[in-house]
Amino acid sequence: MTDDSHGTSDELWRWLLGGLAGGAVVLGLLVAAYAIGYHRGQNSTTETIAVTTTSRSTTTTSKPKGLGPVHVTPALVARGKALYTSDGCSACHSLSGAAGAGPTFKGLAGGTTTLTTGQSVAADDAYLQRSIADPDAQIVKGYRQGIMTPAVAALGLGAKPSDIRALVAFIKSQR
Ligand code: HEC
Repeated sequence: MTDDSHGTSDELWRWLLGGLAGGAVVLGLLVAAYAIGYHRGQNSTTETIAVTTTSRSTTTTSKPKGLGPVHVTPALVARGKALYTSDGCSACHSLSGAAGAGPTFKGLAGGTTTLTTGQSVAADDAYLQRSIADPDAQIVKGYRQGIMTPAVAALGLGAKPSDIRALVAFIKSQR
């Protein structure tokens, strides 16, 4: 009789412990799933905010838009090289280092440009993009404004960000 009752309570204990362990696992999974879901939710919220801020700053920036960094790939450089000729940039910008109607593209990217204001600016992606989209915004020392603008106006480059990116990639390839 005592043996029997022992057996029953043992089984009961096992059943209870099993139930508890099982419950704990399920609860753990639920908590984990919730935590992951919560983090996902948080991330997407941050992304949405980032996107909103970017589009806002794009609208507030005047004509020359920040097009973001230009990654130099052989395909983009090839496109830029074709545009350099077909858009007529080659008439004023040499690749040899010789100054023409405009400054040479050799060694331009990544260097420093001195403006007519005496200010020195880094010839980074943003500067190059602006120089092409809105040439008279900043004038290189030793040159005049109003030379490049009428020459490229008909191309409507301000509305062709992908052309500008290709041209910048090409300029960056001219070390
Ligand atoms: C009629 C001549 C002419 C043509 C064509 C021309 N540019 Fe220019 N470019 C200039 C002159 C002059 C300057 C210097 C004055 C200035 O800063 O706008 C200049 C400046 C620049 C600069 C800044 C250079 C520096 O040293 O900081 C870039 C970049 C540039 N041009 C790119 C282009 C591209 C790309 C094209 C073709 C789509 C082009 N240009 C077509 C005359 C020209």
